[in-house]
Amino acid sequence: MSTPVDHISASAEFTAKANSHKEGVAFDYAQSVRDPDAFWGRIAERIDWVKSPTRIRNVNFDADDFRIRWYEDGELNASVNCLDRHLETRGDKAAIVFEPDDPAASAQTITYRQLHARVCKLANALRELGIGKGDRVTIYLPMVPDAAIAMLACARIGAVHMVVFGGFAPQSIADRIADSGSKLVVTADEGWRGGKAVPLKANVDAALKLSGTASVETVLVLRHTGGDIDMHSPRDRWWHEAVEDQPEACEPARMNAEDPLFILYTSGSTGKPKGVLHTTGGYLVYASYTHETVFDLKEDDVYWCTADVGWITGHSYIVYGPLANGATALMFEGVPTWPDASRFWQVIDKHQVTIFYTAPTAIRALMREGDAPVKATSRKSLRLLGSVGEPINPEAWRWYFDVVGDARCPVVDTWWQTETGGILISPVPGVTEMKPGSATLPLPGVQPALVDAQGERLEGATEGNLVLMDSWPGQMRTVYGDHQRFIDTYFKTYPGMYFTGDGCRRDEDGYYWITGRVDDVINVSGHRIGTAELESALVAHPKVAEAAVVGFPHDIKGQGVYAYVTLKQDEAPSDGLKKELNALVRQEIGPIASIDHLQWAPGLPKTRSGKIMRRILRKIAENAPDQLGDTSTLADPTVVESLVRERQVPG
Ligand code: PRX
Repeated sequence: MSTPVDHISASAEFTAKANSHKEGVAFDYAQSVRDPDAFWGRIAERIDWVKSPTRIRNVNFDADDFRIRWYEDGELNASVNCLDRHLETRGDKAAIVFEPDDPAASAQTITYRQLHARVCKLANALRELGIGKGDRVTIYLPMVPDAAIAMLACARIGAVHMVVFGGFAPQSIADRIADSGSKLVVTADEGWRGGKAVPLKANVDAALKLSGTASVETVLVLRHTGGDIDMHSPRDRWWHEAVEDQPEACEPARMNAEDPLFILYTSGSTGKPKGVLHTTGGYLVYASYTHETVFDLKEDDVYWCTADVGWITGHSYIVYGPLANGATALMFEGVPTWPDASRFWQVIDKHQVTIFYTAPTAIRALMREGDAPVKATSRKSLRLLGSVGEPINPEAWRWYFDVVGDARCPVVDTWWQTETGGILISPVPGVTEMKPGSATLPLPGVQPALVDAQGERLEGATEGNLVLMDSWPGQMRTVYGDHQRFIDTYFKTYPGMYFTGDGCRRDEDGYYWITGRVDDVINVSGHRIGTAELESALVAHPKVAEAAVVGFPHDIKGQGVYAYVTLKQDEAPSDGLKKELNALVRQEIGPIASIDHLQWAPGLPKTRSGKIMRRILRKIAENAPDQLGDTSTLADPTVVESLVRERQVPG
């Protein structure tokens, strides 16, 4: 391995061909923030509008006159931008390459023409099932092309899709259906993950038995594994039967730029998950612009993002960004380590992938397997690597760059959030010098700043809370059904600024180094989980009096889940109860939320007013009892001593 250096430039070969060096593409950051109307007006021309916008931005972050609107008099259809407009020049180009979970099963290629036909057929079927503009549709599917087809079919008729990640349990599906008021659920019999079947339809059946889900009239079921499932007539309909006689053309709905495109739930520091709402025009402009800029997209690229479509990364950088750009996107149903730790690299060779975008947790897990599984493959097709979802530690960055990319491919460490719709801070390959572990600099038009706890802006090399001073087209517009919560969550902590919830350091070159969440959200393997959700699952157990959950540093997952549980009087701790509690959390939230360490706590550290002091619990979980800080406000200091003594040893 080469010696670590602080600054790494893209190779001369990469730079010579980089889009950012082509005439007419070069951008001027200073100009983009000086005259955002001119900048974003020009960028919006990349999209096909039925009616071009004349008003570019209408934004005010002040709570008493709050508004975020982009391209507000423009009209368009997102599916037309992802499909129809490519038919003439790219009709026979692969839009989606599908690599199944089982390496022995055959891969599939879907051209833009075929994708257009399949989306239109499904869109017609949805219309026939009574779905129209503004109706919400839940999508709970495996990582198969049909997931993209379902999203685009909704977009075609103006329905608002709400994708639920396949790793969520019935209760979480039910909560999301109830909050969004979905009329229809699209699911599959089962999905595949690492050779195991995931019971998607059975989960939907269980979810629809739970309260709040009565809005659902139809469940459309994709036959995928052929596994045995219950079909409840007349509610449940087979996808293949519903589309059978539908025409391969479908009149797209004419949508205003500010009409909702989708809702996606994400965890916050308090209460239930929030329905992040993205609208049509600004989101599409932003997803497509950033996808081309950050990934240096070329016409013949084979682009692979390993995220699931159930997350924002899948929405923006598997479906909307790449397809709006006419790219070839690979979709993979499997997992990185099955049948063995070489799978990612084998898929890259098999499909000659040129751009590869994954998460630090996957990189760390594969790095642990050593270099041999990587070196057994060629990876010569690769030219660019990307990272997303959590901070990437410099060691993993180096391994990704040196071993996976053979020191040939720039690495783009992309910082963004469900709320931001697209990437905000990232290197532009061929332009921005990279530093392992830093997301580097803001993209054009993006204005980050660091503030202290009082909201005072900090200048120069410093550390603070990451805020955004102004809007960008891909910004979320509201929390579905609760606009006040949107304003309170993001714009009240530091008035007039969007607060990201992240802490961040800025170095002497102005580079941003995201340090992680500063709120009660933990990032487990790049999945956002609110500690409040975990706690409410734990206290649902009849033997539990109180629970507090914090994150702790985890070698592979980035953060692990550490739970402190106080039992009711007369209840005794046991390993059996620990297992029960873990099962309860998985049942309430889903397999993505398992507890790594559970410590029985005779009491929790509280202030005299009864507030749990999480800062102290975090330090105990991190095994840093010497950094507990000020404990003078504790109601009962002996609680802390006993917790430190009894701490579980993660690892
Ligand atoms: O803490 C940041 C972290 O992930 C959070 C957003 O999570 P989510 O909405 O699920 O979206 C993930 C995919 C965009 C952020 O608040 N995060 C995301 N990307 C990075 C990151 N932290 C450091 N570096 C990144 N590149």
